[in-house]
Amino acid sequence: MNYAIKTSALTKEFGNFKAINDLNLKVKKGEIYGLLGPNGAGKTTTIKILSGLLSHSSGKAFVLGNKIPDKKIASSIGYMPQETALYVGLTVHQNMEFYGKLFGIKKAKIKEKEKELLEFVDLYDWRNELVQNLSGGMKHRASLACTLIHNPPLLFLDEPTVGVDPELRVSFWDYFNELKDEGITILITTHYMDEARRCDRVGFMNKGRLIAESTPKELLTKAGTDSLEDAFLKFSRMEAGK
Ligand SMILES: Nc1ncnc2c1ncn2[C@@H]1O[C@H](COP(=O)(O)OP(=O)(O)O)[C@@H](O)[C@H]1O
Ligand SMILES: [Mg+2]
Repeated sequence: MNYAIKTSALTKEFGNFKAINDLNLKVKKGEIYGLLGPNGAGKTTTIKILSGLLSHSSGKAFVLGNKIPDKKIASSIGYMPQETALYVGLTVHQNMEFYGKLFGIKKAKIKEKEKELLEFVDLYDWRNELVQNLSGGMKHRASLACTLIHNPPLLFLDEPTVGVDPELRVSFWDYFNELKDEGITILITTHYMDEARRCDRVGFMNKGRLIAESTPKELLTKAGTDSLEDAFLKFSRMEAGK
């Protein structure tokens, strides 16, 4: 099996605290994998390690076939952080250009891609506005556009739809599916269960561990519940031995 991400016993300690505890995660190439779990479960820490921003304490991880840490993979990754990493004193256009140049993309290509992406996130008319003047949802949309500027084959999207209105959320998901059809792999975290249902596979994460993993449908069947929230609670209780 050709995995985009494969971790074995991945562990991250902050002092005595294990934020990631013996994580074995496999994400297939070209799938949309949803990482779900309460705040503090370790989702962001996992993504930061896999995208090379944070070192791990023990265990192993391979990203696009390369054992991390490996600087080579940076240009193959698009990382949309939970807290948007835009330059608020620059315009939307300047941010796009900055990220494009960072990845060594030619100016003409940046221009073309910028137009396509800003039209998609409905910000083209705002391209000359300073990011500091955008609403929270608009910043998120700009951040997504910046994440995609270099056509990365692997995307880490950390709660990309928080503060995005429902209609645009649906179009985000249509776009994610288009990217998937192009063979792009997406690891996404979300708190919205309707979004979790749209993932090919979902991993439930709690206290740094993966407590269940399967297709949304199979998770419901295994848990014998109608909602993924209830399924999560059931698997959490099983894990805790209650
Ligand atoms: N730099 C850090 N130093 C100490 N603890 C941290 C640090 N980063 C995250 N943590 C802790 O690790 C746990 C997992 O955090 P995080 O990965 O952000 O969870 P999630 O994204 O699932 O909400 C939390 O308890 C958080 O407080
Ligand atoms: Mg997080």
